[in-house]
Amino acid sequence: MRKLIAGNWKMNGFVSSQAEIEALKGLTGSAACDIVVCPPFTLIDRAVERARESHLVIGAQDCHAQACGAHTGDVSAEMLADAGVRYIILGHSERRMSYGEDNDIVLAKAIAAHRAGLIAIICVGETRHERDEGRAIEVVGDQLSGSIPQGANSANLVIAYEPVWAIGTGLVPTSEQIEEVHSAIRRLLEERMGRDGSLVKILYGGSVKASNAPAIFGLSNVNGALVGGASLKASEFAGIISAAG
Ligand code: G3P
Repeated sequence: MRKLIAGNWKMNGFVSSQAEIEALKGLTGSAACDIVVCPPFTLIDRAVERARESHLVIGAQDCHAQACGAHTGDVSAEMLADAGVRYIILGHSERRMSYGEDNDIVLAKAIAAHRAGLIAIICVGETRHERDEGRAIEVVGDQLSGSIPQGANSANLVIAYEPVWAIGTGLVPTSEQIEEVHSAIRRLLEERMGRDGSLVKILYGGSVKASNAPAIFGLSNVNGALVGGASLKASEFAGIISAAG
């Protein structure tokens, strides 16, 4: 399966960061994987402009579940699609924790993403405490069953497994731990969607960098990465992209 490398800039980047988009755009022509960059809302319009006539695809980091209305400060999936966005990250642990986004909210947002014709990257992952209690698979399974909409398929859904304790910490699970969770996710997707479930991309996220990417990409059922910190530096992100194919 062709790998997908997605960069999540989180709350980083100014107009001057557009040079990074320019650098990435140059890589997409020869890359053997799909590349998505998800900048903050303020940069989306410019990023879409810059990425035009390249294979670089622009994504967003969140959306509201409604299409429009009195929701001060929010942005809808329809507005993002209108701006040229193709992917949307949903249910990131930073939103689940800071904004109390539970599975119902993530599900509503994923329905909105599909309604607007966007590809939902739904994030799942256990905390350190949940892993220590031996509940990683159970937690990830609950998040998946609670947040994937009816009608989801391999063309409009991507799953990102991001263990919370590995995000921004430099800690990466062992290969066995990654494979165990990714195969459990694959089984669940196949149970739910049949054969199409085997085609849904499952990304790994959490302290991915150019040096550890080759080993992670060699693991079974790892179909790419959702990259935070290392996506902010074009040269480091380029290293991850080249490890993907
Ligand atoms: O969504 C990506 C993410 O949470 C991982 O962040 O900085 O550990 O690569 P980082």
